Amino acid sequence: MATKQEAGGHQEVGHKSLLQSDALYQYILETSVYPRENESMKELRELTAKHPWNIMTTSADEGQFLSMLLKLINAKNTMEIGVYTGYSLLATALALPDDGKILAMDINRENYELGLPVIQKAGVAHKIDFKEGPALPVLDQMIEDGKYHGSFDFIFVDADKDNYLNYHKRLIDLVKVGGIIGYDNTLWNGSVVAPPDAPLRKYVRYFRDFVLELNKALAVDPRIEICMLPVGDGITLCRRLS
Ligand SMILES: C[S@@+](CC[C@H](N)C(=O)[O-])C[C@H]1O[C@@H](n2cnc3c(N)ncnc32)[C@H](O)[C@@H]1O
Repeated sequence: MATKQEAGGHQEVGHKSLLQSDALYQYILETSVYPRENESMKELRELTAKHPWNIMTTSADEGQFLSMLLKLINAKNTMEIGVYTGYSLLATALALPDDGKILAMDINRENYELGLPVIQKAGVAHKIDFKEGPALPVLDQMIEDGKYHGSFDFIFVDADKDNYLNYHKRLIDLVKVGGIIGYDNTLWNGSVVAPPDAPLRKYVRYFRDFVLELNKALAVDPRIEICMLPVGDGITLCRRLS
């Protein structure tokens, strides 16, 4: 039987796409994503590609998915944890109505400011409230304030994987009933099914247990219905039920 690699699979665990082959992923990008990608998104993607940490960026197909989802649910008030240079942030800002809002948080302002001129040029920067620093204390403050309970239509979490369960405890309160939380990287480079002796990169191995724990917890959480999609590095959508 041909191994995955012989059959044209990826060379290593750690590739962005979870599809059967690079060619298939390229087909999606070239057929349906790149030809329709907003000019500013393309500019930001190309700018980010030159950055040393570019592996962190949201992929173009996931950006397209987020844009569609936000429009389908008529999202207006949103939150993003983990901005980097802002590709998913720009996808969100472009998808929201003109009076839409995004509370965006990241511990690193420098990377956000790298992409900011592109976001400004796209005419959507007024929708963004960027907060520099760890997200957890901001969430705690919002819960204590009381006025943010059930106020978000959509929340995208793409930051420190070892805190996802801590985020979930708080976000379930902040998202509205019927609203959606999207947890990114829930298939974690495919490593969630890697055998114990698989040659995983150090950071992949470290965060893997947290991702596995999150996936287990979400699967049995009665407050949400979930859908795990193999888009990008895996995204789990959680719709708040009560
Ligand atoms: C995978 S990147 C986000 C990618 C981004 N969504 C995009 O479209 O390019 C993860 C980001 O999470 C940020 N981060 C890490 N720990 C954080 C924390 N405790 N609070 C907020 N942001 C954090 C990192 O600085 C990094 O920019």
